[in-house]
Amino acid sequence: MRARAIRDGVMWMGAVDWERRVFDSLVPIPDGTSYNAYLVKGSGGTALIDTVEPEMGDRMRSQLDEVGHVDFVISQHAEQDHSGYLPQVLERFPDAPLYSTPLGKRMLVDHLGIDGDRVRPVKDGDTIDLGDRSLRFIHTPWVHWPETMCTYLAEEKILFSCDFFGSHLATSRLYAGDDGAVIEAAKLYYGEIMQPFRNHIRKNLEKLGALEIELIAPSHGPAHDRPQAILEAYAEWSAETPRNKVVLPHVTMHGSTGLMVQRLIAALVDRGVDVVPVDLVTLDEGRLAMALIDAATVVFGTPTVNGGPHPRVATVAGLVNYLKPKTRFISVIGSFGWSTTVGKNLPAMLPDLKAEVIEPVLSRGLPGPEDMAAVDALAETIAKRHREL
Ligand code: FEO
Repeated sequence: MRARAIRDGVMWMGAVDWERRVFDSLVPIPDGTSYNAYLVKGSGGTALIDTVEPEMGDRMRSQLDEVGHVDFVISQHAEQDHSGYLPQVLERFPDAPLYSTPLGKRMLVDHLGIDGDRVRPVKDGDTIDLGDRSLRFIHTPWVHWPETMCTYLAEEKILFSCDFFGSHLATSRLYAGDDGAVIEAAKLYYGEIMQPFRNHIRKNLEKLGALEIELIAPSHGPAHDRPQAILEAYAEWSAETPRNKVVLPHVTMHGSTGLMVQRLIAALVDRGVDVVPVDLVTLDEGRLAMALIDAATVVFGTPTVNGGPHPRVATVAGLVNYLKPKTRFISVIGSFGWSTTVGKNLPAMLPDLKAEVIEPVLSRGLPGPEDMAAVDALAETIAKRHREL
């Protein structure tokens, strides 16, 4: 794909990765992705913002053949999907300085072997002059690495945001417009990548609130030409108060835990609580991450296996802990054969959630009327806690 104008003198560059389905050997990206770079031309110089995943370097090479000389190179984020083609760019334009945050400089040297003498670290608010326009650097740490920054082109009211506000979405479209599917893809991306950093995200959103923004140009997915929609979505997703919602990751081996899961779903719905059951046999980690964004409670449904939780549940508990959702309450339901420790050792797998443990409900064998009454009582407790949020 050739370089494409998004404004006068501002070009989209990069690559659309239609085929990719997993990121970082971890994150499902069912709709592919893109690696967006941008070229900003001024009367006194041209700046390139970010590059592409190294395997896509041939796309960028031919685009650079078209657009001509680059005077300044900017790295907003050192992760390889944006910095991976930097070494070739620096070789091609040997006089162009490379701008990054101070921590970005160290990471570019460490991860890509870039010559530190080429890098000019920028302070928050520093600018570079392109003649009739200038670029301002805005430090936005922890979206989702510590060295990240955005770049603001005031004359066009464009914010180049790298991963911030991005979406893993392969599309031929440059702009999101009012397509809700882009916000949904951005939500999936937020859930998978940004969720653990919501405190930093809120601070960065506040900082960006001082800017007049007409276009947000991220480094994955289409640009937000109606920026208020994605800004409001991020404000909602990163807010500290969760919704009246339970995420219920569960697995059953011989049906007993499954009966308790179905009873809990019905009991929660009866009490006006939203429920998102997540079957761990056909788990989609991305959908789970997205469901966790605003859930007040996570209840694990697990049989006891060798005294502990089912291995799939243990794995998912690790993932939930890693994502650090804003969850306030956790609990466990499930059956066991002769003895169990899941009531204690499963919550212990979630130390980073700092959530209150609501008394687990564990049934010896097939759940009877008393066990089901205990499940109903758990639903009642959850509903009550949610009313107090
Ligand atoms: Fe898209 Fe953190 O790289």
